[in-house]
Amino acid sequence: MEFQEMKQYLLEQILDKQLMTATISQPRVKSNEVKRVKLKPIELKNMYHIQLEYQYERILKHENIPLESFAQTLDELLEQFRQLHIDFIAEKVQVQLSKKNKVMWKSEKTEAAKAVNLSHNRKKNYLLDENTPYPFLIRLGVQTEEGKVKKQKYDKFKQINRFVEFIADALAYLPKDQPVRILDFGSGKSYLTFALYHYLKIEKGLDIRVTGLDLKKEVIEECAKIAQDLGYDQLEFLVGDINDYNDETAVDMVVTLHACDVATDMALARAVKWNASVILSVPCCQHELNTQLNAPGLDIMLKHGLVKERFAALATDSIRAEILNMVGYEAQLVEFIDMENTPKNILIRAYKTGRKTTPEQLENYQQFKQLLNAKPFLENELKDYL
Ligand SMILES: C[S@@+](CC[C@H](N)C(=O)[O-])C[C@H]1O[C@@H](n2cnc3c(N)ncnc32)[C@H](O)[C@@H]1O
Repeated sequence: MEFQEMKQYLLEQILDKQLMTATISQPRVKSNEVKRVKLKPIELKNMYHIQLEYQYERILKHENIPLESFAQTLDELLEQFRQLHIDFIAEKVQVQLSKKNKVMWKSEKTEAAKAVNLSHNRKKNYLLDENTPYPFLIRLGVQTEEGKVKKQKYDKFKQINRFVEFIADALAYLPKDQPVRILDFGSGKSYLTFALYHYLKIEKGLDIRVTGLDLKKEVIEECAKIAQDLGYDQLEFLVGDINDYNDETAVDMVVTLHACDVATDMALARAVKWNASVILSVPCCQHELNTQLNAPGLDIMLKHGLVKERFAALATDSIRAEILNMVGYEAQLVEFIDMENTPKNILIRAYKTGRKTTPEQLENYQQFKQLLNAKPFLENELKDYL
C-alpha cells in the first residue's frame, strides 16, 4: 500500500466515525518532545471530536479536534511519527513507516464491536430517540400517535437518523451569524427535509430557511400542508425542475437525495455556483457514463451489463467527488445507509474549504476521464470554475 492511499484510508475510517482508540508513536526525530499520542473519540457539546493525548517525557496534554479539521491533524501526526496502532470498530490496523514513508501494513478484521463509547461509557444513541414522539414523524406515518416507530417504517427511521447524523456533522460548517439558507432538490415525500428542519431549527435553534423542490405537484402540496399544520413557518415547498431553478444567489447548504441521473449533477453545479458551504448528495440512477464508457483494458468487467452499470455508477460518483475537490471543496464518498436497506447507499459529502486544485490533481483527473472516455456533465457545467 502506498503512503497516500494508506493516509486516505485511515482518514476515511476516522471521518466515518469508526475509530475506537489509536496510539501513534516512534517519533521520526529522537529529540521530539512528544513521545507518543493517544487518540479516542469524544463528544463535546453534542459534537463528535477526536481527543488527542500528547505524552511528553513527564506530562500529558490534551487537545480536542473537531472531525472536520482532522485531515490536517493526521498530516501533522504522520510528519512526526512512524508507528500507528489503530483499533477501528471492525478492524485492527498496524502501520510501520520507513524514513521515506514506505508503508508496512498489517490489518485484521475484528468482530464489529459495540458502538463506540463516546462520552465516558455512554452508548451511541440515535439522534432521534425511537421512543420519543416527534410531530413530523407522526404526520409522515413513521411513528404511531404514541410515538412508537412502526415496524414497517423502521428502515425509514434508521435512514432518517443516519441523515440527521450527517446534518449534525455539517453544523460546524454552517454560518453562525446569519440565517442559514438550505435547499433540498428532489425532496419527494420529504422525510429528510422535515428531519433536517426539525433537527436544525427545533432542536438546535438555528435561524434557517428551507425549501424543498420537486417535480410532483401533489406530493409537494401534501408536504406544504404538513409544514403548515406543524407550524414550520420557515419550511416551504415548491413545484419545479432542478434544471430550471435559478431563483437564488447564495445558498449555504444543498441536499439532494436520490435525484435521478444528471439532476444530481445539476444540483451539485448549482451548489458550487451558489458557494454553498455544505453539500450532501445521495445520487440515484446514473445513465450518462454508462452510455459513454469505452475502456478496452476493462473489457473483462464491462462486457457484463450488471458490472458495467455498477462500475459506471461508482466511477460517476468518484468523478463528481473529484470535480468538487477541484473547485474548492473537501469531498468524500461515504456510506449513507447499510446495503441491506438500499443499494443507493453512497453519499457525496462536500464541505467548502476554498482549497485550490493542484496540477497533479488535474492531471490525474484528465487521465481517469480518458481511460473511461468519460465526458462528465458536471465538468461541463463547472468549466468556468476548473
Ligand atoms: C427517489 S425520490 C426521493 C425523494 C426524497 N428525496 C427521499 O429521499 O425520500 C426522487 C425525487 O426526485 C424528484 N426529481 C427527480 N428529478 C427531478 C428534477 N429534475 N427536478 C425536481 N425534482 C426531481 C422526483 O420527482 C422524486 O420525487
